[in-house]
Amino acid sequence: MSDLVFTVQPGGRLSGDFRVPGDKSISHRSIILGSIAEGDTTVEGFLEGEDSLATLKAFRAMGVEIDDVVGGRTHIRGVGLHGLREAGSPLDLGNSGTAMRLMCGLLAGQAFPSTLIGDKSLSSRPMGRVANPLRDMGAQISLREGGLAPINIQPGKLHPIIYDMPVASAQIKSCLLLAALYTDPADGNTVISEPAPCRDHTERMLRGFGYDVATEGARISITGGGTLRGCHIDVPADISSAAFFLVGASIAEGSDVLLRHVGINPTRIGVINILRQMGADLTLENHHEVGGEPVADIRVRHARLKGIDIPVDQVPLAIDEFPALFIAAACAEGTTVLSGAEELRVKESDRIQVMADGLAVLGVQHEVRADGIVIEGGSGFGGGEINSHGDHRIAMAFTMAALRAEKPIVIHDCHNVATSFPGFSALAGSVGVSLQVAEN
Ligand code: S3P
Repeated sequence: MSDLVFTVQPGGRLSGDFRVPGDKSISHRSIILGSIAEGDTTVEGFLEGEDSLATLKAFRAMGVEIDDVVGGRTHIRGVGLHGLREAGSPLDLGNSGTAMRLMCGLLAGQAFPSTLIGDKSLSSRPMGRVANPLRDMGAQISLREGGLAPINIQPGKLHPIIYDMPVASAQIKSCLLLAALYTDPADGNTVISEPAPCRDHTERMLRGFGYDVATEGARISITGGGTLRGCHIDVPADISSAAFFLVGASIAEGSDVLLRHVGINPTRIGVINILRQMGADLTLENHHEVGGEPVADIRVRHARLKGIDIPVDQVPLAIDEFPALFIAAACAEGTTVLSGAEELRVKESDRIQVMADGLAVLGVQHEVRADGIVIEGGSGFGGGEINSHGDHRIAMAFTMAALRAEKPIVIHDCHNVATSFPGFSALAGSVGVSLQVAEN
């Protein structure tokens, strides 16, 4: 494949009033739950990124009628819990861990076999974390050696489980909630315990579809055999995409940005909590709720940041925002310490190592640890060539670093920015980043 290269000129400031694309997690779930609901579901604000479109295509391949997404709107004609059909060929989920792990749970409960495949990055990410508890539920799943995709799922009869998740993963939790829909209510509840709170969009959206999910502290319980009823879903702007602008505006002097209609679900706002603790100037305005999800407009202005010890309880709440937060840490006065974040090593890339390699190129002092990193801030960035390793969030994080660089930053392997943030380069360019895109 060709190399998509971002060349970002040093300096500048961010200003503007805009909305970033729809939330990726919620977009995936709107297709999955809309497809297995009775009746029609309409969606607005849907993320037209490669990841959520991979989910959409997979459900079309299983016989669900879903309109083309136009201006973030689509219409799903739900087929009910038992209305999916066998796809004629493997379901290709591209770069999307969420699509693969959630669909594993859903497909384990079907009366037909399925095969799930993905790109090079997805094919190297751990799938045993969903396959093992699903097997405990009676699922027939085989993985490639090493616990990797492709994943083959044969029809199996599922029964409820009581499961303590070893990691705070919303993908594992959601996978098991979807599988639990296919258990016999006479066999009892599935109960999942999370070691720390992680995003709860599946629970909220199931309730929006009229399906009962009980949450009591860290325990989530659900009974199979119910019905989801089609509904309307308004997908808020993705806080994970907003994060690049929260950091960019915080580090670049003179910046002032208003981000509209951003999802501020309490299980997603680690980035806001951490940046505020570092001294960022963030104001939340116009609070309201759409479809069971809280949203607000976020105003961010430049501020002098200081290094902090990132509280471990914030890690799952900011799990996708660390590439951007590392850039903030490098611009902060003093030392920032991240620990308890080993999960970053199994994201779209090893985000601790790939970020550390990029920070080294840009002259930022740091120490890599097994479960995190220590970053010595305050120096800003030099310039140079960064390899994003095809990780969308690494590419976007280093784009923002250029606002505080002395020389241009050239970022390689940026194609996957389109998985979560179509239009990122044009939007960043229009609000103050000096960015050229070239296909080599
Ligand atoms: C997601 C959960 C998180 C997150 C991912 C999206 C989801 O993954 O990193 O980008 O939509 O459920 P984990 O469950 O592996 O923490």
